Amino acid sequence: RNRLIVDTDGGVDDAQALVMLIGNGWVPAAITTVFGNVSLQSATDNILAILATLKASVPVYRGADRPLIGDAIDAKYVHGDDGLGGAPRPERQDEPQAMHAVDFLRTELAQATRTEPVDLLMIGPLTNLALALRLDPDCAKGIGTLYIMGGTVKGRGNVTPAAEFNFYADPESASIVLSAGIATVLVPWESCTEHMMTGTELDDAFAGLPTIGAPGFSLALSQHLRRNAQSRGRGDVMLFVDPLASAVMLDPSMIETATDAAIEIELSAGPARGMSIIDPAGRIRASNVRIVESVDNRKLAELFRRSIAYAP
Ligand code: BDR
Ligand code: CA
Repeated sequence: RNRLIVDTDGGVDDAQALVMLIGNGWVPAAITTVFGNVSLQSATDNILAILATLKASVPVYRGADRPLIGDAIDAKYVHGDDGLGGAPRPERQDEPQAMHAVDFLRTELAQATRTEPVDLLMIGPLTNLALALRLDPDCAKGIGTLYIMGGTVKGRGNVTPAAEFNFYADPESASIVLSAGIATVLVPWESCTEHMMTGTELDDAFAGLPTIGAPGFSLALSQHLRRNAQSRGRGDVMLFVDPLASAVMLDPSMIETATDAAIEIELSAGPARGMSIIDPAGRIRASNVRIVESVDNRKLAELFRRSIAYAP
């Protein structure tokens, strides 16, 4: 596997995505943070707290605190004011690096074009990568595979009727990234709403695990998402959102059905802004995005069970 950089907006499912990676033995080479679920500052604090809980030392670089156009939105109504649903935090945590995330991405990816490609896992708004691509378009060649959680393929948005949160938070950046010709694996919102664990399965998965430390942290995250799902009438379940993208990156063999397509992002102001329009026939542009539709639930649950049992 290539070295991995994770770009994240520090919410509850972002935390699960990092637990999924590190708990399965895959520590990112670096993490870049971005505004989104919560402010850039809170997202960065959350990532540092997660790494301290997992006892993983990973350099963290702060990135954009707002989209290219317009003001930053947030999703505190989903993730809580602190972005982690009130999950327990460790006493101590490290500090972020001094270098800006966009400078880090640009230099790291430019160097990768001369050595070996780096994989990216994007689980927040795409502002940092869009800015790096504008600063140095050639750095796209340093990317092996770009994994993105974002977008909708059947027009059922979550933040608006038309758009998914990560793309809606910065549609221009999504458009820049998705038209850069990078080999991309996209996990859209609809796929996330099809992959879940029931409350009973979660109780079984956590049975016998410590209620403190990393397992206790994961339990708090899961309980928060379970409450979210119930409050939205989905029943007693936990959806896999950002950790579904982690799982697909960890084990691409779990992908059962996927479609290659071209994607266009609606940029006009109004009800469709941020909508991702999928063109399987490639009429809009060459199709270079592999859209994941379904994965093997057994393999997904196995990665989840192993990750929550991780207690460094
Ligand atoms: C995406 O939006 C955020 O709230 C989640 O962390 C996820 O990355 C889902 O639309
Ligand atoms: Ca996220």
